[in-house]
Amino acid sequence: MNDSTFVTPFAARFELRVPVVQAPMAGGATTPALVAAVSNAGGLGFLAAAALSPEKIASEVAAIRALTDRPFGVNLFVLEPAAPDEATVRQALEAIDPLRADLGLPPGQPLARYAPDFRAQLETLIELRVPVASFTFGLLSAADVDRLHANGLYVIGTATHVAEGVAWRDAGADAIAAQGAEAGAHRGTFIGAFEDALVGTMALVPQLVDATGLPVLAAGGIMDGRGIVAALALGAQAAVMGTAFLTCLESGIPQAWKTRVRSMSDTSTSVTRAITGRHARGIRNPLMQRL
Ligand SMILES: Cc1cc2nc3c(=O)[nH]c(=O)nc-3n(C[C@H](O)[C@H](O)[C@H](O)COP(=O)(O)O)c2cc1C
Repeated sequence: MNDSTFVTPFAARFELRVPVVQAPMAGGATTPALVAAVSNAGGLGFLAAAALSPEKIASEVAAIRALTDRPFGVNLFVLEPAAPDEATVRQALEAIDPLRADLGLPPGQPLARYAPDFRAQLETLIELRVPVASFTFGLLSAADVDRLHANGLYVIGTATHVAEGVAWRDAGADAIAAQGAEAGAHRGTFIGAFEDALVGTMALVPQLVDATGLPVLAAGGIMDGRGIVAALALGAQAAVMGTAFLTCLESGIPQAWKTRVRSMSDTSTSVTRAITGRHARGIRNPLMQRL
């Protein structure tokens, strides 16, 4: 491979020096400092905005724009508004209270709101004219994708298997984030059962390349240059790396979490829905085991 191998059409479009996308990571990792540092270094930084209110999205995007004039992305979860009934909330709190007690914390309380409104978040991305928007957990309508395009946004849909990639292509997406079974955190699966959608990155990427004809970005288990080269060899136009960026200086997660990520091995994670109700790959810890 020579240097031009790394200038894929996707990399060229965003003038990336390296075909690397820093994955959006809800939970505090993707600070404006991290997003801007990646974009300034020649990759594509990504803000995880799923848990942020429209006002917070606006202030984070302003902070990113103060730190870089290069392209970056913002990611949302395509979800219906969460409206759990009282009994469900009580049951969840009761399951967690013993763990809170062990840590010397008072019993948990119901929240006033469980998730920001997706439609309001989407409008914010349009108003802010963010360069790139990516989505997981669901599919946008063709009309929504058209609106994003009309406002200059590049649209990336997450797929964990071929049917999801084809659905995003048919909705008009510009590129597909192929999320292999190795990927850290939540599974993006929105068609079929999650158990049927644990396709490894190596198998998933070429099938999505062939089936969609769109730029495919490979996500899941890519940790260094060897993985990036392998992803390109499979036909991907960039590697999406999440876990590898978790321990960066600019990542906003607590130091204890960074230390733990660094000391993990190949068999340290499990996929479970115990933590959030949605299947996700995480480090096996006492919380996961007890829940
Ligand atoms: C801590 C963490 C949080 C994540 N949060 C999001 C998110 O908010 N939105 C999203 O589309 N993907 C999210 N992901 C998944 C990434 O987009 C990507 O699929 C994954 O990190 C790739 O696998 P890797 O961690 O092995 O690099 C998250 C991943 C991690 C590790």
